[in-house]
Amino acid sequence: MSHKINIEICETQDDVALLAAGKITTLVRNNPQSILGLSTGATPIPTYEEIIRAHRKNAVSFAEACTFNLDEYWGLGSDHPQSYRQFMNSRLFDHIDIPLWNTHLLNGKAASPQLECQSFEASILARGGIDLWLLGIGVNGHIAFNEPGSPVSSRTRLVELSKDSIKANSRFFDSVDQVPQYAISVGVATILEARTILLLATGNNKANAVARALSDPPGSDCPASFLQSHPDCTFIVDRSVGSRIETHH
Ligand code: PGA
Repeated sequence: MSHKINIEICETQDDVALLAAGKITTLVRNNPQSILGLSTGATPIPTYEEIIRAHRKNAVSFAEACTFNLDEYWGLGSDHPQSYRQFMNSRLFDHIDIPLWNTHLLNGKAASPQLECQSFEASILARGGIDLWLLGIGVNGHIAFNEPGSPVSSRTRLVELSKDSIKANSRFFDSVDQVPQYAISVGVATILEARTILLLATGNNKANAVARALSDPPGSDCPASFLQSHPDCTFIVDRSVGSRIETHH
């Protein structure tokens, strides 16, 4: 096994959240002006709850921190209940002391997706790059909405969602027809430029994607496998994913 990915196997999903939140709050305590990359989906919710708990205990302040999110559905405005902006506000930002103007999400209704994507990348660069990007992984091995087929050189752009992603995300909508078919998403290259990467995976249905990310030759078939080249990448997984990795290696 030649990859450099660190693997932390926790017993439960709650343990994953505690460990991930601990890493993030330690980073922000050491550098209050940290630039955080964040993600949406079911996986990071317990981690956000732990971060909120730590903040309420006065253990960490986000008053000077800055965040960027991986992606946003194309066609949903920031006030749409299923937009990732609303998710981030209600799951994290509304409960900590981060100023909303210092939280950056792509605009799913921008007049020009190209300009929106360029300006998002420029803002990340202007802030000196991402210190830590918190990622999930799709059942098909995607990271952000870099679906299978995404090249390692990809940058922020308009992307078409795969059938797998539309199906997986339909649980957040009333019906599958309501899931947007496009998104704007940072690219694989954008993610790989972060100084530290933390990928969380919990539940049986992620075991196969994680095993592939760790053992497939890096390639577009499983975009998460590109993380093998990152010098500081850690996967934090629960036992249901961990057992699968252990039997693989
Ligand atoms: P999930 O999504 O946390 O809702 O499973 C993760 C992802 O698609 O990256």
